[in-house]
Amino acid sequence: MPDGSNVVVRPARAVRGVVRIPGDKSISHRYAMLGAIAEGTSRFQNFAVARDCASTLDCVGKLGCEWKRLDDDGTVEVRGVGPRLNAPREMLDCGNSGSTMRMLSGILAGQPFSSGLCGDESLSRRPMARIITPLAEMGAKIEATEGGRPPLRIRGGSLKAIHYRPEVASAQVKSCVLFAGLFADGETVVEEPIRTRDHGEIALRAFGAEVERKGNASRIAGGQRLHAIEAHVPGDLSSAAFFLCAAALFPGSQITLPGILMNPTRARLLDILIQMGLKISVAHLEEHQGELAGTIEARGVAWKGAVIAGADTAALIDEIPVLAAVAPYTDGGLEVRDARELRVKESDRIAAVAANLRKMGAEVEERPDGMRIPRGQHVHGAELDSFGDHRIAMAFAVAALRAEGETTILRADAAGVSYPTFFRELETVADR
Ligand code: S3P
Repeated sequence: MPDGSNVVVRPARAVRGVVRIPGDKSISHRYAMLGAIAEGTSRFQNFAVARDCASTLDCVGKLGCEWKRLDDDGTVEVRGVGPRLNAPREMLDCGNSGSTMRMLSGILAGQPFSSGLCGDESLSRRPMARIITPLAEMGAKIEATEGGRPPLRIRGGSLKAIHYRPEVASAQVKSCVLFAGLFADGETVVEEPIRTRDHGEIALRAFGAEVERKGNASRIAGGQRLHAIEAHVPGDLSSAAFFLCAAALFPGSQITLPGILMNPTRARLLDILIQMGLKISVAHLEEHQGELAGTIEARGVAWKGAVIAGADTAALIDEIPVLAAVAPYTDGGLEVRDARELRVKESDRIAAVAANLRKMGAEVEERPDGMRIPRGQHVHGAELDSFGDHRIAMAFAVAALRAEGETTILRADAAGVSYPTFFRELETVADR
């Protein structure tokens, strides 16, 4: 099955084997951005191959930071220019990447020049008011189109520290404000409604900044200088999720995923999968610059249902599409609540999941902030759309493994946004 625009997935009997999952996207973005404003040359092994992270590298390149990929061992070298970047001569194109636009804006807000950020059609629809509001409060001048959508124009400069309480639980917003806090005149605090992934705080510390965490509040003092680091990026748990759900589909499956990110703010997925009946063990735990990684062994045994709500929804936000895509095969169904954010991701993920499941003959109750998918449904192959969204393309490739008959996924190349070799890997572990 080549990685192309449309991909055909045939049913399988089980999944078996070892998959080396590419480096984590969230961590790679932060390393590239902080590496750019650090002093010295950083080296990141196993840097994400995701198209999104290439967008970040391209943007920091346009801001005067030289970077290169070393041989083909996945290492990226970033030559930091220190806190003062160069004014870009052209628009910074963030492609499909909300992380690039939102987090880089935090750094640009502290730069004494004007810069423009744009993105593809999907990114141009995504809400940016969530970062414009705090950055404007800190003193940056930001223009956006109607409703706070990209493209953005940021006129940065000296910033004042703020105590910010975001309305939405978003790690991108938290990192954006903490990054801006590096350029502010006092202590910046972000107090979240629900605790989100803490890669921003961990990366800032790795680069030498002091970041204090208490409860849901993270604090950073302005004026701290960053130094270059050598780091290894753990495998992306959100990419691993597709193979774990594939294993969960078939009793008798067995999958090994070495070196996967085990950060507790991301690993809620493993608890839920265990509750749903997947047998999981983790071995060879290692720490890389404050981030935990380990080898996951998973065996499919039973596949029960789950309810995902509240803090779990925030913790599993990127994994809900694949959990929902495979929900019709569970013994208990799936209910997702408090997930309005899913509507403003790379696609409207609630609508995309519902549309594809219905095409496969499954029943779905779509709600404004979630969905309910009844258990034990008969599902058949169909022609599905990725909606240009990487996680939808991959989620339905997994669901297709247990459907009756073949499934075609249109615009499946969207997967490259986070995982360019996904379909090849899935094929190597699909046992027919
Ligand atoms: C991310 C945070 C989440 C997540 C995204 C990556 C990050 O987005 O969905 O894929 O790296 O901080 P939000 O901050 O919008 O919730």
